[in-house]
Amino acid sequence: MPELTEEEIPRRVTIVEVGPRDGLQTEPALVPTEVKVAFVEALADAGLPVVEVTSFVSPSAVPQLVDAAEVLSRVRRRKGVRYPVLVPNLRGLDRALAAGADAIAVFASATEAFSQANLRGSIDETFERFAAIASRARSDRLWLRGYISVAFHCPYSGSVLPDAVVAVAHRLLDLGCDEVAIADTIGAATPPEVDALLDDLLADVPVDRLALHFHDTGGMALANVDAGLHAGIRTFDSSAGGLGGCPFAPGAPGNLATETLVSHLEHRGIGTGVDTGKVTSAVAALRMASSHPAPA
Ligand code: COA
Ligand code: ZN
Repeated sequence: MPELTEEEIPRRVTIVEVGPRDGLQTEPALVPTEVKVAFVEALADAGLPVVEVTSFVSPSAVPQLVDAAEVLSRVRRRKGVRYPVLVPNLRGLDRALAAGADAIAVFASATEAFSQANLRGSIDETFERFAAIASRARSDRLWLRGYISVAFHCPYSGSVLPDAVVAVAHRLLDLGCDEVAIADTIGAATPPEVDALLDDLLADVPVDRLALHFHDTGGMALANVDAGLHAGIRTFDSSAGGLGGCPFAPGAPGNLATETLVSHLEHRGIGTGVDTGKVTSAVAALRMASSHPAPA
């Protein structure tokens, strides 16, 4: 892992909290709506500047998030905090807007196999849906994030070539995405792979339009964060308590925990504005209220 030089150490990094969505979507226990609302509010109180609240997807695809509308409409929003929600299609966008969404995320896949498994459509078909979403997002002035799932390894088709990811990134930026999040959905990426992809991406994508989303399945998430920092990335996703993973990606448990990421960054003198004690309390309250088993 390359050591960061003085100039490469940023003063501040933005952490995007994905626990209430990426974490809870795979939660086996039933988490009551009010517990989800309290979790989101506690995470914003802990200083997280972006808290991804939920997904407006098909409840048969993700039963745990069936109460997305209630959760989003009940959250008391803190000034200065962004609360994005995932939307897979126009139906999801309508539901999200009715619940008061002002920031949304679409999620594309880097491989055809994952696109079919996660979104039941080819990459081209999903981009037709996203184009409709993005056009509404523009006219409604919504903040728009575009994810690229399985940007390094796919559970169905193996290693992913950087070219495929670069192509999807350009399509998302062309739609008008404010930010593109490169996701290691199954947590199998290594720092050399992160270096290689970022080398290609940064050839023509501004660094401040990119975010990195790592899972820690292979234990490399922090090393991968360092590779991202080295390349100039300043926005990283993490999940409070390390909750979650993607239900459509076998072997994807173990998000990078927000507490771990914050400590790692602060140890290096990089500010996050996040109070890890409050994040820990938020997770403890969630576990108490939903009898969530501690991660193995
Ligand atoms: N919100 C609520 N319900 C929705 C919906 C949405 N955004 N989109 C579709 N549905 C419902 C339809 O009404 C239909 O319901 P019915 O069976 O009661 O008639 C059902 O879902 C199937 O609709 P269809 O348009 O045929 O969708 P599909 O079966 O082709 O699935 C997606 C496509 C994208 C909706 C679905 O695969 C999905 O929600 N994927 C999300 C996966 C995810 O969240 N992954 C985790 C993030 S990495
Ligand atoms: Zn994830």
